[in-house]
Amino acid sequence: MVFPNILALLDSWTLIIAIAVFVLVMLLQTWLREPPNLPPVPGRPHLLLGHLPYLGANRREQMAQWRKTCLGSVRSCVARAKSCVHVHLEEVWHGEELSSRENPRRGVLGASGAAWREQRAVSMSILRKFGMGKNSLAEKIQEEITAYLNVLSQLGGEPSDVKRVTSATLSNVICSIIVGKRFEYDDPYFLQFMDTFSEQVRLVSSTSIINVFPWLRHLPGDMFGAKRFIDCHHDLDEIFSDPFIAQKTKEYKEGGDAMDNFISAYLQEWRRKEQDGETTTMDDGHLRRLLGNLFIAGSETTATTMLWFMLYMLHYPHIQEKVFAELEEKVGHNRRPTMQDKNRLPYLNAVIMETLRRASIAPFSLSRMCTADVTLQGYLIPRGSRVVSNLDSVLLDEVTWGDPLTFRPERFLDDQGGLLHPEEFVPFSMGRRVCLGESLAKMELFLFLGALVQRFRLLPSVPGQLPPQKALFGVTCPPEPFTLRLVERSEGVTV
Ligand code: HEM
Repeated sequence: MVFPNILALLDSWTLIIAIAVFVLVMLLQTWLREPPNLPPVPGRPHLLLGHLPYLGANRREQMAQWRKTCLGSVRSCVARAKSCVHVHLEEVWHGEELSSRENPRRGVLGASGAAWREQRAVSMSILRKFGMGKNSLAEKIQEEITAYLNVLSQLGGEPSDVKRVTSATLSNVICSIIVGKRFEYDDPYFLQFMDTFSEQVRLVSSTSIINVFPWLRHLPGDMFGAKRFIDCHHDLDEIFSDPFIAQKTKEYKEGGDAMDNFISAYLQEWRRKEQDGETTTMDDGHLRRLLGNLFIAGSETTATTMLWFMLYMLHYPHIQEKVFAELEEKVGHNRRPTMQDKNRLPYLNAVIMETLRRASIAPFSLSRMCTADVTLQGYLIPRGSRVVSNLDSVLLDEVTWGDPLTFRPERFLDDQGGLLHPEEFVPFSMGRRVCLGESLAKMELFLFLGALVQRFRLLPSVPGQLPPQKALFGVTCPPEPFTLRLVERSEGVTV
């Protein structure tokens, strides 16, 4: 037979070359058909990689440069086959056309359409019920703060890198929300979970290129870590999501569950919809992915912001002392700050806001997919484009902030010391897909960082030698690893 013989000839290299030729022809076709009013580009695009090679080692700086020199507010910068438009205008984020993700997945973070709307609404209502932004959740956070401060205290004021314990403590807050309990930091189960989770977080950045060029995932080997990333997903489901979903489902069926956790609240709402005959997308698959989403979006982001805060406090000791003085005056020594103190501590709030602004930890947010042709400032953003909200260009904009690179919390205070909320303060993005955990994150940052400065003086490991304020690049941008000394402000104080 002729057909099998031809197939036998197609060894893997022939196949790769054939695919490459096919991709090339498709790219040429798309390129030649390009409409005239696309956003400007920074130079002639590479046939396969578009403008990716122009981005260089420091994408954030390159983007800032392009914005200044030639491209104004809109720019198209990745392969023409899949236009990628970087946008900094706020108005575009509010439309339905820019509320989807590429390659829709389950859960909320990567979901689109009706499933995303329902999963997001259900998750928000559960978090609100638990008191996101209110006191019941604050109690869980306070319990975690006690454990965190104890670990920091045990460091005895010695130079230490607190990244791992900070990530663990914020993952534990998410655990409290999801399963209703926290874990000891040295619990072997929790350590195994944290190791797999940290690996997955590390892989998020290297795999993000696959979203732009999905064909890369078919290259031999695992050059971008995509296969390992999926393995981590499965491992986390196996270690965490599946056993807890099974346990809570059993308890729920037996009527013995406490309803103080996300899983049970989700199961309850799902059953309610089924009993009422409502059409729903709620199922085990969405629930499993939602749990992963809450971890991945909810712990590293807040932990990274806390690390930046600590770094800034080393660099600006006078700001640290001012935060402490406000805490001392308004809260005292005998109790930790609570959510009732939030409005009474404008300076602390301003320092946290300035940290979120200056560090801009998610500079390119999460990209979205344009589901219809959109015209912006006369430019066409074609349907199917990948759209990146360049939060850096808002948070670090010279016109808005005057001195955007200076760490100056006073910019968020009015003449009477009251807190200002400029609309350009958008570290949580904007529009329909604005961060789902914004209130929780603000609450965590306020309670954790207030308690931290109240109890410890943050000092450089070597007097006079400050770690650089340099960011690593990724989906979230933490500071380069650094150590510091956390010295108890007053021996014996354990609030
Ligand atoms: C300082 C901390 C945080 C920052 C700076 C941050 C920032 C962001 C940003 C920029 C986005 C992308 C929005 C967009 O697509 O335009 C996002 C989405 C999201 N965040 Fe956060 N976040 C933080 C904390 C949290 C926490 C604590 C949670 C957990 C409850 C969380 C859950 C989510 C989820 C689920 C999404 C996806 C929303 C959707 O696609 O509808 N985040 N966040």
